[in-house]
Amino acid sequence: MAVIPDFFGLNLGHFSIKLAEIKRVGTKARLEAIGSTPTSVGLLNNDSDAGVKSLANEINKACRNSGIKSRNCVMSVPESAVFSRLITLPKVTDKEVGEAIQWALKPLVPLGLEEVNVSFLEIDQKVIDGNTFSNWYVVAAPKELIQRYQLSMEAAGVNLLAVETESLALTRMVVYNYPQFAKKDIMIVDMGAENTNVILSRNGVVMFSQTISTGSNAITKVISSDLGVDMVQAEKYKITYGLDTTQAEGKVAKSVEPILQIISAEILRTLSYYKEKIGGTGISEVFVSGGGSDLLKFNEYLQAKLNIGVINSNPIANFEQDPMLGQKLQNVHLSSFNVSLGLALKGLL
Ligand SMILES: Nc1ncnc2c1ncn2[C@@H]1O[C@H](COP(=O)(O)OP(=O)(O)OP(=O)(O)O)[C@@H](O)[C@H]1O
Ligand SMILES: [Mg+2]
Repeated sequence: MAVIPDFFGLNLGHFSIKLAEIKRVGTKARLEAIGSTPTSVGLLNNDSDAGVKSLANEINKACRNSGIKSRNCVMSVPESAVFSRLITLPKVTDKEVGEAIQWALKPLVPLGLEEVNVSFLEIDQKVIDGNTFSNWYVVAAPKELIQRYQLSMEAAGVNLLAVETESLALTRMVVYNYPQFAKKDIMIVDMGAENTNVILSRNGVVMFSQTISTGSNAITKVISSDLGVDMVQAEKYKITYGLDTTQAEGKVAKSVEPILQIISAEILRTLSYYKEKIGGTGISEVFVSGGGSDLLKFNEYLQAKLNIGVINSNPIANFEQDPMLGQKLQNVHLSSFNVSLGLALKGLL
């Protein structure tokens, strides 16, 4: 693999803008710098010149806050903004693949093909009635969005090296930190503020991803409305009591549960899709991550609903020991850095 210059990972989340930089020590990663800045309302969807500028300012602010050294960056495009699909095609030559995928994609993508960047990766092959078919994981990302990112980076004086999906970064984060699962089929659930991403990966390669437009903020809203408290108080209740029915007379848990019900129902649908349409050795573990996954009793809840082991992923579980780590992680909510750390690990796997 080509040597990539030093860079930081940048994840634009609805809750916060997150940055992480690592240093390569042999085959291991050492955390170099990490930090975030809150995302102001509307910042991510403002495509005006002023919007591009304010995003650039926020990125610079986050760079300063987190002590990032490099001016190169690899950033993620939100899973909700891309179209992705597993497409099965009869085996064709390498030369013909691009065109075959464009044809298959055309009726599926809501935008014109000239408006998207298409990338694809072969997952596996199967033989049916003597004919070989390939499964391709295809991603179409809107060019307009990528161009806007490019403009913001230029305005921030940052050199954008690459853009990749959150699902790719998350898969890298899990596989790097939990190498014992590198050759398995795994599910990753990333619960953020506005969205929850559900991803299936095989051998470290994404083969399915889906965004549920219900995230942890929906929980805060429902607590606020059910208990008649403001959002600040509701956020505190969410963090303190979560799904624990033994606390606060079970009132908070009762409000929270229906939101988790929506998410677990979607996860179960994805597991059925895996069984019926993809097939394989089976999903033995679900890795949960994202700020929202720290909800009290979330792990137990999901485990009971899915009947599968649930692991709260630690995005630096396999990092090099570092005496300065405690200091670097002061004021850092590590679960939120799932994507940015996955981006920062690019090139190491
Ligand atoms: N201990 C906790 N328990 C439950 N939820 C929490 C906890 N700590 C933070 N959160 C929630 O996590 C969310 C932020 O998570 P994260 O940083 O992963 O989101 P994001 O990536 O910015 O958002 P999105 O992925 O939707 O764009 C917020 O809704 C916050 O309230
Ligand atoms: Mg997120």
